Amino acid sequence: RIRPCRPVRLSEHADDRGRLSIAETGREVPFGIARAYWQHATPAGAARGAHGHRRLEQVVVAVSGGCDILLDDGLRRCRYRLEDPAAGLYIGPMVWRDYVDFAPGTVVLFLVSEPYDEAEYLRSYDEFRRAAAGLR
Ligand code: TYD
Repeated sequence: RIRPCRPVRLSEHADDRGRLSIAETGREVPFGIARAYWQHATPAGAARGAHGHRRLEQVVVAVSGGCDILLDDGLRRCRYRLEDPAAGLYIGPMVWRDYVDFAPGTVVLFLVSEPYDEAEYLRSYDEFRRAAAGLR
């Protein structure tokens, strides 16, 4: 697994009414949550992501269904199956990510550390590689 990414176990309250999973700033989430968004109605075969962030941190949860996340820190790559609604994946800054292999009906929730700022995205893989190498 690559350094700035790790699985996050969410808190859970389960009883005979079902399961409640919790992601709270300062507990399961190691940053202040500034924004939430979610991907849904993703067509079969579609790929999303294909960018890195200079600063942004996030915790990602497949609240329904699942997809694969391909992570790349400029040196190493790993593939992570996101499909447990009781677990999150923390992705730190300067990680290239691609989301692929969406199961039908998938909803992926993103809890992120900053308001939307297109200037903070790295959308060219070459630019990402150069920026990542510059930080090493
Ligand atoms: P994009 O970064 O391609 O989505 P993903 O990483 O999920 O594949 O974003 C799609 C469009 O939505 C793009 O024009 C930017 C815009 N957008 C916002 O305006 N605000 C947001 O919070 C996000 C996540 C995207």
